Amino acid sequence: MNTVLLSDSNNELEKASDLIRNGEIVGIPTETVYGLGADASNANAVRKIFEAKGRPADNPLIVHLADFSQAKDFTTYIPELAYELAERFCPGPLTIVLPKNKKIPMITSGGLDTIGIRIPSHPVMHRIIELSGRPIAAPSANTSGYPSPTLAEHVMRDMNGKIAAVVDGGCSEFGVESTVIAIEGKSSVRILRPGCVTKEMLSELCSEVIIDHAILHELEAGQKAASPGMKYKHYSPKANIIIVDSDLDSFIAYVGANINDDVYSLIFDKDKDLFPYRYMTYGNDSSEQAHLLFQRLRELDDVGAGKVFVRAPKTEGVGLAVYNRLIRAAGFEVIRI
Ligand code: TXA
Ligand code: MG
Repeated sequence: MNTVLLSDSNNELEKASDLIRNGEIVGIPTETVYGLGADASNANAVRKIFEAKGRPADNPLIVHLADFSQAKDFTTYIPELAYELAERFCPGPLTIVLPKNKKIPMITSGGLDTIGIRIPSHPVMHRIIELSGRPIAAPSANTSGYPSPTLAEHVMRDMNGKIAAVVDGGCSEFGVESTVIAIEGKSSVRILRPGCVTKEMLSELCSEVIIDHAILHELEAGQKAASPGMKYKHYSPKANIIIVDSDLDSFIAYVGANINDDVYSLIFDKDKDLFPYRYMTYGNDSSEQAHLLFQRLRELDDVGAGKVFVRAPKTEGVGLAVYNRLIRAAGFEVIRI
């Protein structure tokens, strides 16, 4: 299959929407990461997503809508708290898990009777949903297990020849995927995947915000995941990623003691002048780190890094999302000094 690169002109967005209406899959930009979009109500189209990504069939897809008022068309029940959260955070990087109705086939929900609903804020994505007139199922547009794409060029690399088209909508603003939550009781939520709608932000509307254990810990054999995505190895470049949680001096000493031809470090911008070994940087604050992390993981593969020592990010606010992606990329290998 020839994968065409489309611009964000009106004409080309109509082409992308037609492809989706006709059961094809298209790489589409969102404010979090690029997605692989298909008509969520078309089982054959959704099957193509699982094939192109090499995604396990039990890992459910998020359904993207133009407005939260459409959520009632695809769900059986929406608690009051979901409306309040949507009012505050949608459109934006939040996915709310709700009980699905029959319009969404089981293949889309990975066999679950719930679906994640998300209202993206990216104007190009929004336009594609409106033009297609369909609910759009879209996982991140990476090959399963590899870091998520934040540029059209990343999608092209992973999906060239496997999908109909990629729409170039520029660099994804947030850089990490949406916050996924489940509503538990009248006023509490459980974070299943952290993102840029943070625990602190959710706490303004919820009496309790639970951080699911699997966000920071490896699932033990036989343990059931609240979100199937947490079972799988994720976000991993080819390079061996190792998080080193220490101050800068100890970090430099540790890298020095383990230096080798194919060793790189991923450090903060402000460390640059003091750092004597080969490095890339991923910003200073948590939002910059989120914005840059996946791009850097891909670039580290491009330069042939074999082993990468990473300065540990903070775990507050958006930092929790950065840390969650990194510990999975690292296969939970953290060195504390
Ligand atoms: O920002 C995002 O959410 C991006 C963009 C494209 O919108 N999409 C994305 O989709 O990250 P994906 O498929 O790569 O990740 C969805 C995650 C998976 O870990 C999945 O297990 C979880 O959300 N998930 C989806 N539906 C769920 C459900 N009904 N119950 C529990 N977890 C669910
Ligand atoms: Mg993904």
